Amino acid sequence: MAKHTVTLIPGDGIGPEVTDSAVRVIEAAGVDISWDRQLGGVAAIEKYGESVPDSLLESIKKNKVAHKGPLTTMVGKGFRSANVALRQKLDLYVNLRPVKSIGGVPTRFDKVDLVIVRENTEDLYTGIESTISPGVVNATKVVTEKASLRIARWAFEYARKNGRKKITLVHKANIMKITDGLFLRSFEEVAKDYPDIKAEDRIVDALCMRLVMDPTQFDMLLLGNLFGDIVSDLAAGLVGGLGMVPGANIGDGYAVFEAVHGTAPDIAGKGLANPTAVLFSSLLMLRHLGEDEAADRIWKAVVLTLAIGKHRTHDLGGTLSTQQYTDELIKEIKSRSN
Ligand code: NAI
Repeated sequence: MAKHTVTLIPGDGIGPEVTDSAVRVIEAAGVDISWDRQLGGVAAIEKYGESVPDSLLESIKKNKVAHKGPLTTMVGKGFRSANVALRQKLDLYVNLRPVKSIGGVPTRFDKVDLVIVRENTEDLYTGIESTISPGVVNATKVVTEKASLRIARWAFEYARKNGRKKITLVHKANIMKITDGLFLRSFEEVAKDYPDIKAEDRIVDALCMRLVMDPTQFDMLLLGNLFGDIVSDLAAGLVGGLGMVPGANIGDGYAVFEAVHGTAPDIAGKGLANPTAVLFSSLLMLRHLGEDEAADRIWKAVVLTLAIGKHRTHDLGGTLSTQQYTDELIKEIKSRSN
């Protein structure tokens, strides 16, 4: 029997290409995982008629851990986001997105080292939208004290365990005084229990300006669901783009590891995708599984490969396909275990 069983959702678009790369690299690092492959998103709709079938939810509930490729959500029409449904159904209330500069990757800034924590279950993502009258529509933003307190506490605990010094709460409470006001007050309440961690807040628009001028002034950012989504893509742009930033959806019972990026339909099936983001989310997963030694080895192999600069995918100015880049990483990992 394998040491770990993990649900694997290859996903849509570039998902199968990048998750295949992650599986190969994890295997090369010698981690004993049995992959329980499950369909989600468009692939699941074609087979089961729904984007998050019961078989997928049952698999994650049984295995507790999933590794996932991106899932398609249609813009302005079609079915509800499978990603949002998964996060809400499994109560994966934390979306953790570490954003770190990697030496040798061309970017505007070096030394970016941010941890973004996004509340993952409510805000405008509750999907409560309606037509009031023809041409007049509305969306409901839901913020609860319970979810705001628990995400704030999770962020402060993470800061303590990981040697982080400061958390910046990001909001628009000058305009959304009740909803973002509650999010901010809950953060301030929890901050009182953590005098060792600096707590500050910024209005989201000013935060964006400061981030693109000097991201090194921030340490951890805590945001609601919508601002968290937007600001983490902005932050990805500071360290080389969406091919570089991992994510983890974490709840008290289950965890789903995935990249920040989507299905990238413009490059899907062409071997152009950078699998580094998904691979970095594999590292978060391996640490969650207690496989720190393998995670360290993979991390060093990726960092060294990118630093040398000969072996890169197209988004980073290189010429290698997803598979060729993966082959180079595997060579590097194997040379480290000899
Ligand atoms: P996207 O992240 O798929 O792509 C944005 C741009 O970044 C594209 O030019 C793409 O080629 C590039 N890109 C993304 N990942 C890359 C990688 N690994 N290597 C190289 N280039 C990469 O965002 P978009 O186009 O807004 O969304 C496409 C679909 O993905 C939509 O259906 C959306 O709902 C879905 N999506 C799913 C997510 C998830 O499953 N967690 C997250 C974000 C979007």
